[in-house]
Amino acid sequence: PSLEKEFLPMYFGWFLSKRSSEILRKAGQAFLDELGSLKAFKKESKYFASAIEDPKIKIDLTSYFVKRPPGVLHCTTKYTEFGKAAGAEEYAQQEAVKASYGKGFTLSISALFITTKTVGARVDLNEQQLLLWPGDADKILPTDNLPKGSRAHITLGCANGVEALQTGLDLLEFVKLEKAGNKGDEVGEIGGGKVLYFDNGMWMLNLSKKMDVKAIFSGYYG
Ligand code: 2AM
Repeated sequence: PSLEKEFLPMYFGWFLSKRSSEILRKAGQAFLDELGSLKAFKKESKYFASAIEDPKIKIDLTSYFVKRPPGVLHCTTKYTEFGKAAGAEEYAQQEAVKASYGKGFTLSISALFITTKTVGARVDLNEQQLLLWPGDADKILPTDNLPKGSRAHITLGCANGVEALQTGLDLLEFVKLEKAGNKGDEVGEIGGGKVLYFDNGMWMLNLSKKMDVKAIFSGYYG
């Protein structure tokens, strides 16, 4: 019998276990609550104007990032758009991708970040995990030359009218600043670690203890 051409998912990625999703969501929530109450943040809260009720008390970042992913959280590797995206077939046919499909991984989260558009978790991929990372993902501009895996992230929320795709681009902006020698201003410390400010409403919490989350490498078909 002639088989149909293989049907590709909307995207490939690591899908967190229910328990890991809950733990990471909680950490993200605590980050937003504590950042919203941090003095240094309140001073710079103009970037989050719609979240300001009484700036002396607290900036409500939870209601600012209204769009939150339903169900389990994930870290996209390749957005294949059911096979229509550039490089989709090539990605799906790689040995590493085929061999890892359905397999369990532990992802390491090193930081949480917000911009005026998104809130996300930064994922530090190890060598084995980098084999599943596409070659074309770590760029905002075609001329960008950033380390492989720079974009690896888990979207935790987006502001009104912002698409999830933005979270990875926002993380790349942080990486570009870091590469240019801007390590951010250490403006305070909250539960999870040190808070860095990069200007323009870009904040990062470097976790003093990296968070491990369990995830399955798979495809999402919508
Ligand atoms: P995310 O990985 O930042 O969360 C479905 O839309 C998923 O694929 C979302 O999780 C989204 O962003 C990601 N996504 C959508 N369009 C994309 C694109 N063009 N490139 C990379 N990832 C994309």
